[in-house]
Amino acid sequence: MRTQLSFVPPAGIATELLAVFAADTQTGKGPDSKPTPRLLTDDAAVQAAAASVLSSGEYKAAANETVLLHAPAGLAAKRLLIVGLGKLARVNAHKVRDGAGSAVRFAKPRGIREIVLAQPSSASLLDAVVPLAVAARVAVEGAFVGDFDPDTYRSDRKDQSIQSFTLAVPAFADRAAVEAAFAQGVIVGESQNFARSLVNEPGNKLTPTILGRRAAEMAQEVGLEWEVHSTGKLHELKMGAFWAVSQGSAEPPALIVLRYTPQGVTDGPILGLVGKGITFDTGGISIKPADNMERMKYDMAGGAAMIGAMRAIALLKPRVRVIAIVCAAENMPSGTAQKPGDVQTAMPLVPDKPGKTIEIINTDAEGRLVLADGLTYARQLGATHLIDAATLTGAISVALAKVMGGSFSNDDATYSKFEQALQVSGERFWRLPLGEEYADLIKSDIGDIKNTGGRYGGAITAAEFLHHFAEDTPWIHLDIAGIAWVEDSRPYIAKGPSGIPVRSILEWVRTFSL
Ligand code: BES
Ligand code: MN
Ligand code: ZN
Repeated sequence: MRTQLSFVPPAGIATELLAVFAADTQTGKGPDSKPTPRLLTDDAAVQAAAASVLSSGEYKAAANETVLLHAPAGLAAKRLLIVGLGKLARVNAHKVRDGAGSAVRFAKPRGIREIVLAQPSSASLLDAVVPLAVAARVAVEGAFVGDFDPDTYRSDRKDQSIQSFTLAVPAFADRAAVEAAFAQGVIVGESQNFARSLVNEPGNKLTPTILGRRAAEMAQEVGLEWEVHSTGKLHELKMGAFWAVSQGSAEPPALIVLRYTPQGVTDGPILGLVGKGITFDTGGISIKPADNMERMKYDMAGGAAMIGAMRAIALLKPRVRVIAIVCAAENMPSGTAQKPGDVQTAMPLVPDKPGKTIEIINTDAEGRLVLADGLTYARQLGATHLIDAATLTGAISVALAKVMGGSFSNDDATYSKFEQALQVSGERFWRLPLGEEYADLIKSDIGDIKNTGGRYGGAITAAEFLHHFAEDTPWIHLDIAGIAWVEDSRPYIAKGPSGIPVRSILEWVRTFSL
């Protein structure tokens, strides 16, 4: 998708489709308070073209509600699309992002390959809530999100992607600020889609080795340092927990390490991003039921998010050092697979000390095993702050539905930076507790800890398992099992990989920029 800004009035732009936002200005409630839609643009010609449909009562400007006008009078555009943002009082940057996605997703199936979006810019209405620069960033992010479709393996696939996206910005805007924000939005949107394209790949097309290759190619392109290791390195580092998962598969594991070092930064924090990269999770010997097992190709979404975030970090260049570690493996049942009851020894933080021992209760609780060694390795490489992302538990969806991800942290200061990041990203997480009573649930009779904690609080006991390896290093754990995959398409995003939490990881990293 080509992207550009235009500073000429939208009414004069000749285009296949001009999209403009509307919001409902009705503040009253009750039977007599009808929706009162109003366009969020200052362009008088666009206002005039939309006037009759807005006053008709047919269009309410509900969030992502669209209406299309052909040959709009007085406009150079062939079509005018009005996209609702819902109640004006509740409009924010995240609604604008979604609205831009909805405009793109409206155009795609209609064969429209080029669109111009008029910046939401009604000076009196919106500038205070969504400044023009912020709106420019989120609009182009949303356009990329909307442009992604997952049907890449259809033999008769018609490429419906938008070729050209233009944001029309009012002439009074601070051009430099808008241009900078727009350029950031392009990087963020492309990076999120890069992560989504990885998550979308089926297990046979994206083995751990291939994931490693894709990460390395990206790193090469954007100028990150990278290493991709396999079995030998796992043994050398004594990554007994990671290897325990991988040993059942004919596909070798990949230990993917990406490093970002900004010029001249030699001290301050080193952020460790650790991602679960299970390219397919059968459950292993504790095999999963056949129903829906195909979905387990997305069990590497946490790893993909870290790879996508590193791409954005490399291009946006925050002033803080970052290391990403993705532990990629297949969880398979086989003659060489680990068994329930097996005891595994995790990687030791200090090479000649003993590692923690883990009693395997259920081979399907494999994500925490690969992450255990990933977290330890990040600490060994000097990470001062850790964040991990993983499609870790079904239990997180029992707790939070497929609405929010679960977040956990052993450090309030580090977590408050993540809350700041969520304000920018618009991604939704809810913090859940850690605590000794939960840690008690994973004590083992034979070794240090066991890999499942029983029926209750499954997402929390999984987090406590990871806590054993983060120890007292400030750490955030994100359980994205419920939100990494969009189950039903929405107006602004296709069914399929969501790309969460690429944006939040990026913004969290940026809060550390020196
Ligand atoms: N990858 C799954 C978690 C998952 C479930 C992700 C549904 C996405 C959608 C994870 O490896 C797993 O199998 N977890 C088990 C843990 C249990 C055995 C303690 C689970 O949640 O059932
Ligand atoms: Mn599993
Ligand atoms: Zn899994």
